[in-house]
Order: sequence, then structure tokens, then C-alpha cells
Amino acid sequence: MKKTTRTAMIGAFLAASLAFSAQAGGMNTELVIDTDNGPVKIITHVKNPPKGSPLSELYSGWVFRSKETQALETDDFDNPGMIFVEQARDAWNTPDGTVGKSCADCHGDPSSMKGLRTVLPRWDAKLGKLMTLEDYVNESRVKYMGAKPWKYGGGQLTAMVALISMQSRGMPVNVKTDGPVRKFWELGKKLYYTRVGQLDMACSNCHEDNYGKYIRADHLSQGQINGFPAYRLKNAKLNSVHGRFKGCMKNIRATPYKVGSDEFKALELYVASRGNGLSVEAPSVRN
Ligand code: HEC
Ligand code: HEC
Repeated sequence: MKKTTRTAMIGAFLAASLAFSAQAGGMNTELVIDTDNGPVKIITHVKNPPKGSPLSELYSGWVFRSKETQALETDDFDNPGMIFVEQARDAWNTPDGTVGKSCADCHGDPSSMKGLRTVLPRWDAKLGKLMTLEDYVNESRVKYMGAKPWKYGGGQLTAMVALISMQSRGMPVNVKTDGPVRKFWELGKKLYYTRVGQLDMACSNCHEDNYGKYIRADHLSQGQINGFPAYRLKNAKLNSVHGRFKGCMKNIRATPYKVGSDEFKALELYVASRGNGLSVEAPSVRN
């Protein structure tokens, strides 16, 4: 058998085993999180997305999870992701690198980062590049602390990103898509709609065409990233945006881009823009 034929057959077999089935029942969109600073209301459903959105309504991934999983996110005390956030808080207050300073020495309380998550990734004119939150943390570590960068997608960096993201909880995502970021946004969009892998599928085939349906036992969401970093029950840790992208690409038997790559940063910008209007929800809880 020719290799291409065999690949196509495997593809067809896998695609069949991934058949979508329709959902039953209405969806709960009411999410209020009990936090140390009182209740925070999360926008998990946007009825009228911004002009130009490819989606007629926006939903956070939380809406598609089981009642039990949803409940874990309604109180910070029950959210298993918070253990990692506390570790990041310790790191925030601990000096590191040759300069001997901690994040707190220069930035004060993490709450000084309020609002930042909502606008990232963004173009940074001073640095002349597209910056994710991970990039900013490592930029500070290297340039201002004389410390080694943390591994992109690794535990320490992802936890710090969660601590900083959390300061914007409840605020709507509002990334820019015009100006100098436009070319990255266009690349991200192209990647989103390009079919890849043995299953020959694009992100859009699942998260735009079939959200609300089931794929095996999994209730398909719109693949939004407003909840990231996300604690997953499956691997019991905080997962970065790029880590999740990588997982989805592997599931369709595609060769994933590297975590921290320009491709994934462009895709992150594009996917973030599809969620403009949903609240920052990090750290979310997912299965
Ligand atoms: C074969 C279907 C399929 C394809 C194709 C796919 N995904 Fe997913 N994705 C899933 C499933 C299943 C989940 C877990 C349930 C859910 O949240 O939808 C998921 C989850 C996600 C999540 C987590 C959402 C949340 O709220 O926790 C993101 C983000 C995501 N996908 C992005 C992508 C991107 C970007 C691509 C393209 C590179 C992609 N996915 C391709 C099936 C797919
Ligand atoms: C020695 C001082 C110093 C230390 C220590 C430091 N930073 Fe920074 N950080 C800066 C400066 C200066 C900027 C750039 C601010 C600007 O351009 O407005 C910055 C920018 C940032 C930004 C982007 C903020 C924004 O609003 O654009 C983040 C996020 C950040 N730092 C996180 C951290 C974290 C996390 C740590 C600890 C791991 C840390 N920083 C340690 C000085 C420091």
C-alpha cells in the first residue's frame, strides 16, 4: 500500500472515531467567583460579540464543563489551581538573579498588574515586538533582575502568569488587532483555519463549526483562552495557552509548533481576539 493511501485511511478511521454528536440540555452561564476580595462576576457569555466576530455568540469554556468541574471554580478556596498561584506569590516576593531584587521590590503588590492580562498579547513599541505575558515576565527577569528566563510553558512561568492574570479577573478581554499587530493577527487567523495533521482538521472545524456538540465524552467549547492558565484535572497542574494549543494539535495527529514560538504567539493573539468581551477568568478549572 502506498504511504499516502495508508495515511488517508488512518485519517478517515480517526475522523470517524471522532464523530460529533449533538448536546442535550441548556447551559448555565452564571459564574460568580468567591474571592478574598469578595464576589467577582465573570462574563461567560457575550450575546452580541464585537463587529467582525466569526462567532454569533461568545462562550467561555467554563459553560461547557460538567456541574462538578464548574463548581470548583466558584470559590478560590476550592480551586486547585490556587496552590500554584500561592507558589508564584512566594516567588514574587523572593529576590532572584545578580541584581538581588524581587518582583515586589520594583512592582509592589501583584495588584499593580491589574488590567494587563486583558490587552495581551500586544505590540510593544519600545521593544519592537509582539509580547505575551510570559515574554514580559522573562524580559524583567533577564533585563532587570539578572536572572535566567523561566522555561516557556513551564511550571514557574505559568504560575506567575496565572498570578498576574488573576489581577484582571472579571475585566473583559480587549486585545488590539490593528496597527503593528495586524500581520501577526493575520498569521494567527491563517493558522486557525488551516487544516493540518493526519485528521486534516483546522481549529475552526471543532471550535467554530461544532462547539456545543460532543466529541467522544468531551463537550466541545469555542476553544477560548480567557480562562488561561487553566488548571486541568487531567494533569493536575496549570496549563499554559501554548501547552493547550500543542495538545489540540497532537490530538489531530499534527506536528505542533513549539511552545513559545512565533506561530503560537500569533495564534494566541488571534484566539484572544475571538474572545474580546469575555472576562479574564484565570486560573480556570477544566477537565
Ligand atoms: C478534533 C477537534 C479539535 C480540534 C481540531 C482542536 N481542538 Fe481545541 N479542544 C478540543 C477538545 C475536545 C477540547 C476540550 C473541550 C473543550 O474545551 O472544547 C479542546 C480545548 C481547547 C482549548 C481550551 C478551552 C478552555 O476553555 O479550556 C483551547 C484554547 C483550544 N482547544 C484551542 C484549539 C486551537 C487553537 C486549535 C487549533 C490549533 C484546536 N483547539 C483544535 C478539540 C479540538
Ligand atoms: C529591578 C526592577 C524590576 C524587577 C526586579 C522586576 N521588574 Fe518587571 N519591569 C521592570 C521595568 C522597568 C519594566 C518596564 C516598565 C515599563 O516599560 O513601563 C517592567 C515590566 C514588567 C511587566 C510588564 C508590565 C506592563 O505593564 O507592561 C511585567 C508583567 C513584569 N515586569 C513582571 C515582573 C515579574 C513577574 C518580576 C519578578 C519575576 C519582575 N517584573 C521583576 C522592572 C522590574
